[in-house]
Amino acid sequence: METIKKFKVLWEIIPKKDKVYYIVYSIISIAHSLLFVLLPFLYRDIINAVTAGFYPEKRAFLYIVLTIAGYASIRLWSLINVYKKEKLTKNLLDKLFSSILKMDFKSFLRKDAGYWASIFSNDVDFASQLYSDFLYTLPAEFITFIVILVILFIYSKPLLITVTIVLSMVTLISLLREKYVIPHYDRAQESLRITSDHINAHLKGIDDLIHYRGESFLKKKFLKDFTPYIHNIKNYFLRDFLNEYAINFLNEFGKFAAIGISLLFFIRGNYSFGTAVMLITFATMAYGRASYLVDNMRWLQNYPPHIETIKEAIESPQFEMEDQHTGNFEESILNDVSFSYDEKFVLENFNMYIKKGEIVALVGKSGIGKSTVLKIISGFLKPQKGEVIFLQGKPKIGMLFQEGRLFNRTLKENLLIAKPDATYEELVEALKKAGLLDWFEKLSNGFDTQIGQTGKLISGGERSRLSIARIILFDPEILLLDEPLTGVDQDRKEEILDTLKELLNGKTCILATHDKSLLRIAHRVTYITKEEDAYD
Ligand SMILES: Nc1ncnc2c1ncn2[C@@H]1O[C@H](COP(=O)(O)OP(=O)(O)OP(=O)(O)O)[C@@H](O)[C@H]1O
Ligand SMILES: [Mg+2]
Repeated sequence: METIKKFKVLWEIIPKKDKVYYIVYSIISIAHSLLFVLLPFLYRDIINAVTAGFYPEKRAFLYIVLTIAGYASIRLWSLINVYKKEKLTKNLLDKLFSSILKMDFKSFLRKDAGYWASIFSNDVDFASQLYSDFLYTLPAEFITFIVILVILFIYSKPLLITVTIVLSMVTLISLLREKYVIPHYDRAQESLRITSDHINAHLKGIDDLIHYRGESFLKKKFLKDFTPYIHNIKNYFLRDFLNEYAINFLNEFGKFAAIGISLLFFIRGNYSFGTAVMLITFATMAYGRASYLVDNMRWLQNYPPHIETIKEAIESPQFEMEDQHTGNFEESILNDVSFSYDEKFVLENFNMYIKKGEIVALVGKSGIGKSTVLKIISGFLKPQKGEVIFLQGKPKIGMLFQEGRLFNRTLKENLLIAKPDATYEELVEALKKAGLLDWFEKLSNGFDTQIGQTGKLISGGERSRLSIARIILFDPEILLLDEPLTGVDQDRKEEILDTLKELLNGKTCILATHDKSLLRIAHRVTYITKEEDAYD
């Protein structure tokens, strides 16, 4: 029944306008399939005429024309579909991309990168194939199947009974697969995912692992992760082989039974030879349709549980970064803001304000909630209670994250996300303002230099300054700087402070920090404390 649920989800995530195409597709496919149902009748007549001793010219001609027309149009139709399939996959991916970017920040972070990677690499592809191949041909296959059963009912009840019994058994066996085979597959996939997540996570901390000579520790750990995969995948293949074998055996048996029954009735004189051949063809077609349906059901059964996640991502409450900034803002106020990540409140009835042109330092102990305050002002996090008020117009806000998020992409790409249409000169200018010009001029690959995962290939100080260059390009009205001096050594600090001072001239800025040297450039300090431990 899981399969039916997955099927429903698959249907629900088809974009609305594609549903119209789907209906047109189904109608044309049904017409096609029914055309092929006509053919056995024609060759029954041809065989009967030939056995009676004359050549049915008109029928033979019609047969040839219908066959050619049928196959030709099917090919043409598939050609149109190749294009449609591609578009469908692209639509699905587009939708997933933008949904993931706009997903509620907290629920997005709950899943790790490996999780999303596996959805993108396998599941989207899988889903779009299921869409285009299975879902689109299903009505035609199903209706043809029913029509064939009706024909068998009219011409030969014994044959209908045999076909029904065999196919009921096939259906039962493939349903049992859901219970006895698929759980092994799911478990195998899950262990594989866990293993790759762990490997990924450890690769991020590879320096530490090398430093602490963690090789044998890791080997043991990865093997422990991996053993369940081997165990489950072996079980899965074995059981699946038996299951498929039973289904194939029944199908073949069913075909032989159809031949036997039809020929028997022909010998006993109930059917003409043409009718016998026609009935054999119909029975074979019925098995063909059925195994098509069963094959796709097997596929759908194997479909990783992520279809639910794809749907969840597409339909999750979308978080909007408000882009319409109207400028001319005069003041921003945090009014009785309370926020918690889980049960425990980080901020309770927190108040602060900032006027246009002010530089305010936000100071407090580590873990007190400074970064949280900035994320609330920037709109990343929504407070459970209280509000952020902007008086007279919504400002454009730029935030420099404490963790200094750079992407594992080129220098250029890292800058362009702040201003996609920036010119070469603008990029250089931003680097210059952030004090990175000397560094940049020494890069042999220039803007195409790979920055490395979370900026690993460049130094901590360079990373800080690159983040500053990026925010210069973004050119916001309010700057939220979270520990902008992280990773900067004492000598460089002065230099960057000067850069910041110049950059912040006339701008509105909140500086979250516990670095006393930054207080020098602030006009005012706001302390963030907990009642039980007043700030010293
Ligand atoms: N994503 C999260 N999920 C759950 N708890 C979180 C999350 N981010 C922060 N916290 C918790 O909320 C509290 C405030 O965190 P926050 O990052 O705002 O502190 P901070 O004042 O910026 O600290 P620091 O000076 O060390 O940067 C901390 O106790 C932290 O453990
Ligand atoms: Mg912080």
